[in-house]
Amino acid sequence: MNILLIGSGGREHALAWKIAASPLLTKLWCAPGNAGIAREAERVALDVADHGAVIAFCRANMVDLVVVGPEAPLAAGIVDDLAAAGIKAFGPSKAASQLESSKGFTKDLCRASNIPTAGYERFSDAAAAKDYIRRQGAPIVVKADGLAAGKGVTVAMTLAEAESAIDALFTGAGAEAVVEEFMEGEEASFFVLCDGEHALPLATAQDHKRAYDGDKGPNTGGMGAYSPAPVMTDAMIARTMDEIIMPTLRAMKAKGMPYKGVLFAGLMITKNGPKLIEYNVRFGDPETQVLMLRLMSDLVPALLAAIDGELQHFSLRWFPEPALTVVMAAQGYPGDYAKGTRIEGLDEAAKVEGVEIFHAGTKAEGDDILANGGRVLNVTASGASVGEAQRRAYQAIDRIKWPQGFCRRDIGWQAIKREKGGKA
Ligand code: AMP
Ligand code: GLY
Repeated sequence: MNILLIGSGGREHALAWKIAASPLLTKLWCAPGNAGIAREAERVALDVADHGAVIAFCRANMVDLVVVGPEAPLAAGIVDDLAAAGIKAFGPSKAASQLESSKGFTKDLCRASNIPTAGYERFSDAAAAKDYIRRQGAPIVVKADGLAAGKGVTVAMTLAEAESAIDALFTGAGAEAVVEEFMEGEEASFFVLCDGEHALPLATAQDHKRAYDGDKGPNTGGMGAYSPAPVMTDAMIARTMDEIIMPTLRAMKAKGMPYKGVLFAGLMITKNGPKLIEYNVRFGDPETQVLMLRLMSDLVPALLAAIDGELQHFSLRWFPEPALTVVMAAQGYPGDYAKGTRIEGLDEAAKVEGVEIFHAGTKAEGDDILANGGRVLNVTASGASVGEAQRRAYQAIDRIKWPQGFCRRDIGWQAIKREKGGKA
């Protein structure tokens, strides 16, 4: 098969690495890709916002399958346009992508289908939102409606924090806020492949969203992850499927927007069971990096089964060994950071047993690899335990020479504490 992958981050490098290992593959392209992806795929300089250009490329190169990594092209309807042109594409339609692009849509769907999630109200007016916040009290959570790249959320511990989040949100016209009940528990990332009607759970993962050790500092897109997530026991997975995922798929089908693709549920495991924090309509980043390392089966037939509505009788095999990934970011991230600094030692680092290095934001200049983004490398390792995977990942990182980068040194700490017999 000829496959075109869309995206340029560590998630796409992990997907490219796994797709490239498929016996079904003839040729893989990636638009636009990065310096690491170039080892697995031929990079193409397509403007992915120009759906006509993507369709023309697919026709000219006899592309059989398009795999869409990030949410923006999905929300722009690229899967609808490709499907209309007779080209198979993995990912939800524009309408179904609202599960990520509109928090209000998702909250309303949860309410109508009795799906456990934080209580909430929607507001299009700052005064009414503040009035509600004062009545509810803190802690409370303020979210912008719409795609905000993980940055539109304020978990406010005080009323003053919540009110200033509302002020910051209602600066322009047309703003919408969702104000939510604060949920307490441990977070987990849960991924399911969906074919419109059936769902196949993938492995579980946990990520670290804060920039610095000890889960301190600003929120980021994710500084590391590991799989499996110890809180996601078989019983918790079964409850999540019954109480959250399957009711969502039934509701989406009833609305005439059946959900196909990967559904990523951000969960809070509370003392009363799993509750939905949010949906994403794509693979997680950096969770995909650990998922792909643990996936034993070929990924490509699973993607095709999701598109073709044939997941009911499908299964996937996973390596039991845990995997862990550490994000190396440019100093300053998630704020301002420099681009173009040189990274050395990658080949030596990749020789550590069990290690796979995925590139997130890199570019090649001759033989040099340069940082080209905030999150730059995902040093990923498997091991007999999370502890061993962590040791291997940091052993590889210590061989990388990049003074302008940084990483957390404690990725996986909750799981490792559990392995040592303590409670995380
Ligand atoms: P989101 O972008 O909705 O995933 O939110 C980003 C982060 O904010 C989540 O990963 C949680 O850590 C936190 N968060 C979001 N909503 C809630 C909530 N209702 N209660 C507690 N924490 C939340
Ligand atoms: N790791 C969280 C995300 O992909 O949004």
